[in-house]
Amino acid sequence: MRLQKYLAGSGIASRRACEKLIENGEVTVNGRVAKIGESVEDGDVVEYKGKVITPVSEYIYLMLFKPVGIITTASDDRGRKTVIDLIDVKERVYPVGRLDVNTSGLLLLTNDGDLANKLMHPKFQVDKTYKAIVKGRIDDEKLKALENGVMLEDGVTAPAKVKLIKFDKENSYVEICIREGRNRQVRRMFEAVGHEVRGLRRIKVGNLSLKNMEKGQCRYLTKEEINYLKRITG
Ligand code: URA
Repeated sequence: MRLQKYLAGSGIASRRACEKLIENGEVTVNGRVAKIGESVEDGDVVEYKGKVITPVSEYIYLMLFKPVGIITTASDDRGRKTVIDLIDVKERVYPVGRLDVNTSGLLLLTNDGDLANKLMHPKFQVDKTYKAIVKGRIDDEKLKALENGVMLEDGVTAPAKVKLIKFDKENSYVEICIREGRNRQVRRMFEAVGHEVRGLRRIKVGNLSLKNMEKGQCRYLTKEEINYLKRITG
């Protein structure tokens, strides 16, 4: 089997990204720096960053209802609680994208590096829907601006779908669906139109939703959900 396929199949990264790791000399086979295009056979020892890499025997796909206060990373050098601490599976899985520490909601985790990379890739434009509680009464003009695109320091945002749910005395409740996945994007979009975000929850990724899940709960995706994700990134 080609080395890049073997690496991608171990859940490290997509095949393209694995090619880069090989090109950068970060992968060894039987103790020698590997070359792009080479093949591996049973018994070969493949290492990346000094760790022996074994192909994943079974892919798993999870959905976590991430609570506020938990960080989205596989491990934290400051010992803070991470999303991995909330899941109880023996396989090593990685978060698909990230949610800020102060954002709750739907987070996918998998050891299928190829699918994870596709879901995060702008080319596939997967919808991500959020419920935001923002300070003050947001007006139609600002909702329209969010929909059409607002200028952030890293450029204008792509068109979004925006729906006002309700107001109360202090806040507005807005549902917003974006296809990009820039850092703190939803918070920055609301800030750009003058409304601080007081609460943010991701409720959907594509058509997968948090329905019937409790905060902190994690579950396996169904066959239909997995097939759906493969279809939209196919
Ligand atoms: N947008 C944000 O501002 N934060 C998130 O966690 C996700 C999207």
